[in-house]
Amino acid sequence: MDSFLIEGGVPLHGEVQISGSKNAVLPILAATLLTAETCVIRRVPDLSDVDFMVKILRSLGAEVTAAEGMLTIRCGAIRGFGDYDLIRKMRGSICILGPLLARLGQATVSLPGGCVIGTRPIDLHLKGLEALGAKITVDGGYLRCDTPKLQGNLVFLGGRAGPTVLGTANILMAATLAEGVTVIESAACEPEVVDLANFLISMGAKIQGVGSPTITVTGVRELHGAEHEVIPDRIEAGTFACAAAATCGEVTLRGARLDHLGAVLEKLREAGVGLDRTQGALTIRGHRGLRPVDVTTMPYSGFPTDMQAQLMALLCLAPGTSILTERIFESRFMHAAELMRLGADISIEGPSAIVKGGRPLTGAPVMASDLRASAALVIAGLCARNTTQVHRIYHLDRGYERMEAKLSKLGARISRVPGE
Ligand code: EPZ
Repeated sequence: MDSFLIEGGVPLHGEVQISGSKNAVLPILAATLLTAETCVIRRVPDLSDVDFMVKILRSLGAEVTAAEGMLTIRCGAIRGFGDYDLIRKMRGSICILGPLLARLGQATVSLPGGCVIGTRPIDLHLKGLEALGAKITVDGGYLRCDTPKLQGNLVFLGGRAGPTVLGTANILMAATLAEGVTVIESAACEPEVVDLANFLISMGAKIQGVGSPTITVTGVRELHGAEHEVIPDRIEAGTFACAAAATCGEVTLRGARLDHLGAVLEKLREAGVGLDRTQGALTIRGHRGLRPVDVTTMPYSGFPTDMQAQLMALLCLAPGTSILTERIFESRFMHAAELMRLGADISIEGPSAIVKGGRPLTGAPVMASDLRASAALVIAGLCARNTTQVHRIYHLDRGYERMEAKLSKLGARISRVPGE
């Protein structure tokens, strides 16, 4: 397994191009199952999660041609049986369920695994699909779903932690070909769901209320092929903003959608980070002394859970006490123990991490545990004294396109050490 070797203490300088959004492109790739016609998806990030989703589509019978940043997909003759191991290994693949049911009237997929950040239940997905008329049974680790024809209905998708992003995606896609009207209440409002809805509309779907908690879908008989450019990745943009601030550098983010970053930029500003908007780009101008802040993760447009670990790494440098409260996932503080190996002072109390910041960090070997925890460890390594080795960076490769190349271009002393 590869690792990153990072010599800390170098302020990052220059420009970084933000790639397409991982969490937008995965459901959009699943949506191509809804038509037998050709779809062209652009600004596709080069990520292992995307490679995985392409493998899954091909296992279902899709023809997929890849070019630089672009996928041409034709789901002509497809089958509704997803490869057990492929689907079990990537949670995001659960969003093929809705399209397969809508297109074929049946789907058999393995139950997605949980992961280190939580059990990742899918009860809301199943409740929504059953409300549309699907019969669902669990048999030997497989979900078997059947329906003579999906029927529009009222679907409430609010869970104990608020809306479900991929659950909304699944029901939205299923509803596009259901008979009649579906109203989704407590729908997720994330930009990635909006991007999916826009792609579906370009395929001929009839959707209203996109980006609001109430989405209305009027089913149509079939959808046609379409072309779509994926939105930029707001979490990658926020991650580089934290890295620039932590190293007290000056970095311009090119291609980011600043309107998707409201809560993140507000929190960085509150923490004393210098931010300038110039012609649609955002320049992070380090800081003249970081301040501690409190933050609670919330559904969009609140502070995103996917930025909690990266902000924690930055707040280790802010003299004083910061409190980060995680309200979306039950165990998303795996990065705290690894940050403490670098000298951070963090204690966990229930859903909150209390960070006593201000002490300089010192490099050490650390272990990545999940995608965003890995990003937090890279940020910490970039501003720690001496050398930090981040092991198991396959987690990073899932969601960050060429991260070490982008960081090196900004002056970071980072190299990939091939795994043993
Ligand atoms: C998406 O996961 C993202 N992944 C996650 O990003 C992100 O953290 C999450 O949304 C929240 O924003 C992709 O889009 C591929 P949820 P998703 O369903 O849809 C509970 C990253 O780092 N829940 O919105 O799987 C669930 O346990 C990844 O890029 C139920 O209770 O998340 C959680 O507490 C990590 N029942 C909360 O809802 C369900 O049926 C939000 O989960 C579904 C979810």
